[in-house]
Amino acid sequence: MRKPFVAGNWKMHGSKTSIESLVKGLNEQASQVQNVDMAVCPPAVYIDFVKANLTADNIVVGAQNIAEEPVQGAFTGETSVEMIKDLGCDYVILGHSERRAIYGETDAQIAQKTKVALAAGVTPILCVGETLEERESGVMEKVISTQLDAVIKVVGINAFEQIVIAYEPVWAIGTGKTASPAQAQEVHAFIRDKLARLNRAVAEEVIIQYGGSVKPDNAAELFAQADIDGGLIGGASLNAEDFLAICKAAS
Ligand code: G3H
Repeated sequence: MRKPFVAGNWKMHGSKTSIESLVKGLNEQASQVQNVDMAVCPPAVYIDFVKANLTADNIVVGAQNIAEEPVQGAFTGETSVEMIKDLGCDYVILGHSERRAIYGETDAQIAQKTKVALAAGVTPILCVGETLEERESGVMEKVISTQLDAVIKVVGINAFEQIVIAYEPVWAIGTGKTASPAQAQEVHAFIRDKLARLNRAVAEEVIIQYGGSVKPDNAAELFAQADIDGGLIGGASLNAEDFLAICKAAS
């Protein structure tokens, strides 16, 4: 039995004032959610502030990115995995489509970051997903396979015991256009089957989150699908009530 996992990706949003109020809301209401693993991933500069203010003992903290380099050094502007670990992060989002599309992160870089995170004992939330053009031109499965293969090649299939996968169709991110439960389930099953061909036990255990315009009113139907084990939530995670309603829908 896979335990559902819902994570909030705050992206580049927030200030000390807004985050203080968001965390207060989480502290007040998080105990309503049971049997679901929960995480929030603030911007790196606010991780320490969130850790200092978060008293809800059922929510952990993650980061949104790390450097490819495993150790500290002359890499201006970068944040190492050891640094986020030092701040108490359990997770790191890797390969988000915004990092791929806006910052040109390649499959090879994402695989390297995954390796570095695993070596440090920080769980990667590995994002994969297709654009609308890729879906419509019939290469969706090929795109997702390539994204996964790049990581499998570097860390091996057994490492997926320590990896969370987030399927995020790019066309559904921040657009209000969520994938239908059937569309999402189809891709989740494809991902799980693909991994099962390499290691059935690992594929059965791996958590596959769905991300892309998940809201309190569509979460339950998505999470009810056999291969959807929770979500990676963007916009709706900036509101404590909405985020926790989504988490509750996963229980
Ligand atoms: O990481 C989260 C996803 O990009 C989803 O964002 O919920 O705002 O569509 P969204």
